[in-house]
Amino acid sequence: MAYRLTEEGEEYLRKGLPEENLVKILAKGPVKLRELKEELYKFDIALAWAKKKGWVTIHDGMVKLISSPKTSEEYDALGHLDKGESIVKDVLDILVKRGLVEEIREDIYTKAEKFSGKEIGLLESELIKTGKWREVKFRHYNVSSPGQRIQIGKKHILTVFAEKARKIFLDLGFTEASGPLVESTFWCFDSLFQPQDHPARDLADTFYMKNPREVTLPNGKIVDSVKRTHEHGSDTGSIGWRYSFSEAVSKQPILRTHTTAVSARSLAQIKPPAKIFCLGRIFRNETIDYKHLAEFTQVEGIVVDENVNFRDHLGYLKEFYNRMGFEKIRFRPAYFPYTEMSVEPELYFEERGEWMEMGGSGIFRPEVVKPLLGIDCPVLAWGLGLERLIMLKYGIADIRNFYVKNDLRLLRDSTIIG
Ligand code: PHE
Repeated sequence: MAYRLTEEGEEYLRKGLPEENLVKILAKGPVKLRELKEELYKFDIALAWAKKKGWVTIHDGMVKLISSPKTSEEYDALGHLDKGESIVKDVLDILVKRGLVEEIREDIYTKAEKFSGKEIGLLESELIKTGKWREVKFRHYNVSSPGQRIQIGKKHILTVFAEKARKIFLDLGFTEASGPLVESTFWCFDSLFQPQDHPARDLADTFYMKNPREVTLPNGKIVDSVKRTHEHGSDTGSIGWRYSFSEAVSKQPILRTHTTAVSARSLAQIKPPAKIFCLGRIFRNETIDYKHLAEFTQVEGIVVDENVNFRDHLGYLKEFYNRMGFEKIRFRPAYFPYTEMSVEPELYFEERGEWMEMGGSGIFRPEVVKPLLGIDCPVLAWGLGLERLIMLKYGIADIRNFYVKNDLRLLRDSTIIG
């Protein structure tokens, strides 16, 4: 059954429950009955319920507080109902009894209206026995009146899309990888040939952890190869960054800023050919507003294969977006410290009449591939945003809807079912 606030219920939601308002006044000390009568909104109701609930006593014309409510159960329930959320049965019964909430009944007239000349909606035995049915006008069924709303269990929209993306990559023959959320700057930046003084490492962009103090680096040759590549290019054909690489910096723990860290970890473990994807939460030190959150989801992928080139790269991205349901895709040249060439895929959103950037991608530079994989080999790589895609497709204006607000209406009203 569906319920809604009555006019009085709405008024209480704005002004507070009378008895709770009374308690607030009495918190400072007993007050004369007469004064209350003048001051207090819905004085009679306030007093009656406060007494019934055992919160106040009246002696010699003075009203005194003897206990006060710990929570505001009934008031909170009004708020929940107003937002279309359900509430516990006991509280609902009280609110209905108090006339603050009513059942939504669109198609049945009340008994009082039955013989008053209005249309009637219920043929009762009395009408037949008395022959009154001849006089009254019956109401037609209103087939457009809203039915009872059924709340089915649904997956969160983000989950639906993550599963969709996962299925696409599995279908394309990719293997899923994952990595830690608390990552070292080594895997997040160093292994991607981002110099240790790169501005993106700044506190302004990256969350550094106090705990753990440091992260263990991988054993073996990897750290050393990355270090040599940074310092002088090693055998990658590059001259490197020409500075002194610090392992202490590499060990700094951070919340991973991109899932490209997982791609780097994968590169250090596999032999080509390989196709790997990762779906994961990432973190950036952003000021939170309707467009930005400090955490969001990336769809990452790499294709490591002697026989692939830039055309394959564009083809994979196009195929992914087509299978996600987006037809129009184009590519804009871009820059990332770890790729050459680099492109940003853009999708065309008919509803907005606009091209929107969806993430970053490119072919990993030899300075990334050689130290991790041991050999040079084409590696197609991308990191795409998930939330943005859903927001644009479904016209969800505020990214905070996904995480922070926990507003159930987003799910209840959603027609996106996985
Ligand atoms: N890591 C980049 C980002 O977070 C995306 C990217 C991934 C770019 C792989 C190039 C290659 O924006």
